[in-house]
Amino acid sequence: RTVYLNGAWLPETEAKVSVFDRGFLFADAIYEVTAVIGGKLIDYYGHAARLQRSLSELGIACPLSEEALLDVHRDIVLRNHLDEGLIYLQISRGADDRDFAYPVKAEPTLVLFTQAKPVLNNPRSQTGLSIATVPDWRWERRDIKTVQLLYPSMAKMEAIRRGADDAWLVEDGFITEGSAATAHIVKADGTLVTRGLSNALLHGITRASIIDLARGAGMTVEERPFSVEEAQEAAEAFITSATNFATSVIKIDDVVIGDGKPGPIAGKLRRLYSETRLA
Ligand code: PDD
Repeated sequence: RTVYLNGAWLPETEAKVSVFDRGFLFADAIYEVTAVIGGKLIDYYGHAARLQRSLSELGIACPLSEEALLDVHRDIVLRNHLDEGLIYLQISRGADDRDFAYPVKAEPTLVLFTQAKPVLNNPRSQTGLSIATVPDWRWERRDIKTVQLLYPSMAKMEAIRRGADDAWLVEDGFITEGSAATAHIVKADGTLVTRGLSNALLHGITRASIIDLARGAGMTVEERPFSVEEAQEAAEAFITSATNFATSVIKIDDVVIGDGKPGPIAGKLRRLYSETRLA
């Protein structure tokens, strides 16, 4: 692969970052993941806006203008002949002597790489996912998309150990979100329930699009927390994320959701998303 590092296009084996980089030492970095289908960027402007918000929360200056950033995204797709998969972007505060205080004049490190992966025809979208619930022991600024991903990684491993595909995280009896996706349920009357935005969860870009599409299709949307029990009793459950679109959940811990097959409403939202966001 050809990767982008601080203004240079390099073979992946030649792209090097300092051991003093604060992304490496302090997880002092933010990231974005944008899906690519048929060589096109999906929901790009949402991801670009959230990137700016994460940077401003941490006081890191964006190394490129908005136009240049879009050009780099388009360029990396072409250089890697990426048809379907994702673009990963990371910006760290940069390298300096190790100190908890932010360095005064570190140059941010900007990295982009691509990863090919089936998104539209991901086999999991046909079968649905089984979920294990795990306590949400992350920090309280989950709205900032930082690279502090150790706990979500531990939670996913715990879910896999328990025979599930992935984890939903639970705080005070309510689902916050998945290890790397937004959690949603559909009630028997067809209402979509998804947690409202706060510091407790990442403000998902796919979530925002799915809510718009659901409302546009005449569905009622309730933005409020839902408990593990409410999710287990729901007609449908599903996740959204850049690389999953909307993917059904068919089991939460020991409880089968609905009839144990991917539900029609999640399927419809997934279809609407792929028809409208791939334009
Ligand atoms: N994860 N919540 C968390 C904790 C996430 O990490 C993600 C995305 C989402 C969904 O956000 P969006 O719809 O904007 O992708 C929600 C990315 C894909 C990842 O870490 O790979």
